[in-house]
Amino acid sequence: MTDTADVTRPETGQLDVRNPATGEVIATVAATRPEEVDAAVAAAVRAQRGWAALAPGERARLLRRFAAEVDGRIEELAALEVREAGHTVGNARWEAGNVRDLLEYAAGGVERLSGRQIPVAGGLDLTFHEPIGVVGVIVPWNFPMPIAAWGAAPALAAGNAVLLKPAETTPLTALRLAELALAAGLPEGLFQVLPGTGPVTGARLVEHPDVRKIVFTGSGAVGRRIMGQCARQVKRLTLELGGKSPNIVFADADLARAADPLAFVDNAGQDCCARTRILVQREVYDRFAELLARAVESVVVGDPADPATTMGPLISAAQLRRVQGYVTDDLPVVARGGAPQGPGFWYPPTVLAPADPAAPVAVEEVFGPVAVLLPFTDEADALRLADATPYGLSGSVWTRDLSRAVRMARGVAAGNLSVNSHSSVRYWTPFGGFKQSGLGRELGPDALAAFTETKNVFIATEE
Ligand code: NAI
Ligand code: MG
Repeated sequence: MTDTADVTRPETGQLDVRNPATGEVIATVAATRPEEVDAAVAAAVRAQRGWAALAPGERARLLRRFAAEVDGRIEELAALEVREAGHTVGNARWEAGNVRDLLEYAAGGVERLSGRQIPVAGGLDLTFHEPIGVVGVIVPWNFPMPIAAWGAAPALAAGNAVLLKPAETTPLTALRLAELALAAGLPEGLFQVLPGTGPVTGARLVEHPDVRKIVFTGSGAVGRRIMGQCARQVKRLTLELGGKSPNIVFADADLARAADPLAFVDNAGQDCCARTRILVQREVYDRFAELLARAVESVVVGDPADPATTMGPLISAAQLRRVQGYVTDDLPVVARGGAPQGPGFWYPPTVLAPADPAAPVAVEEVFGPVAVLLPFTDEADALRLADATPYGLSGSVWTRDLSRAVRMARGVAAGNLSVNSHSSVRYWTPFGGFKQSGLGRELGPDALAAFTETKNVFIATEE
């Protein structure tokens, strides 16, 4: 867990938001106190009743207007994300556009949230997808806008109210989205953003009996704790807890494409899908290491507001210390890129070759631009190494042999695999983890269903 000492001043209940590229405080935001969370929940309960009673087409229309508000402010939202999260401006524009797309996609599901008619004797049997009620969405700092919308858009579309707690370090874009929702005409209280710390504001959402589902993305430690707390109320829960994803490169692959460092340096490696375990077939290990080293050295690290930049800073001083802690002097370095000196939370892209494939840096989520390179012999060996972590979120397989690609993609115990590609997240395909990477699925055609309870109703027709 990050120590929040450098982002909060608990004595005043204020969150200091810093520009990670400079370390400067750019905004101060009041943290939501437990009694304010309770008031927000009460308002959400009221708003949700009216929202669920609206005609489906009307809910869809309001969500499309919300999407249009976001679309009109892509540049503004992106600039805010560059400043509060250090995201490169190209990524930040994509992220704001992703919010728009998620809202549009969810809006398209409102009138399609159909139940079933099931044959029974003596009557009619129908199922309904009822909204759950008030949903708490607890968001991390690595993708503040997309992850907020992954939870909020389908939850709202399915007829729920949403209380969203952004991460301590990145509340600004979420607060702006809440304003845009109101400007679009969403009812007061339906979508509220409650900035604050995890242990106070977040924990109150988890404990509150009128919050009927929690969607959490963040660390395994906090996710496990929240799961235990939800158990007391049998509260619905979706967890997305990160990964240590393999990039499996066979000798017959297009090695140059497989060696794209963006697979682990995009967003400065603060990506739950980052391919940070690079597994390479032994006969091409040296050639691949050379290609990777050249590519890593040419990653442009610097001012995230400059469109020519590939990688910006880490989010905070705490995250920088965490990443530094994994890269110990005994680990052989395969490649290292550059990083600016001076203020800000900078770390260079780094590839290590630990002698022990079970070293902490090789099996734990570092959440920085750090990958390990490990050799394998054959398919079975690659699968064994790919699955040798408690995680199972994503992974890539590189080979020109189609049958092997299918065997490997089916074989790896992870939720999101890509073949001859490093991409894994699209808002219209399902996303989530095996093993300790999470619980449940987000996005994709079933996204709305995860925010409903199935109700079965039997209607007798006999006189
Ligand atoms: P974290 O799990 O502490 O924070 C994630 C969110 O949970 C934040 O909004 C935080 O305020 C909230 N939270 C924290 N404690 C809580 C509690 N007791 N009750 C309710 N909400 C709570 O993650 P942190 O400390 O920022 O990052 C540490 C590591 O976690 C990272 O280095 C990375 O490995 C992993 N992580 C994974 C993410 C993913 O995408 N799966 C996202 C962020 C972090
Ligand atoms: Mg933490």
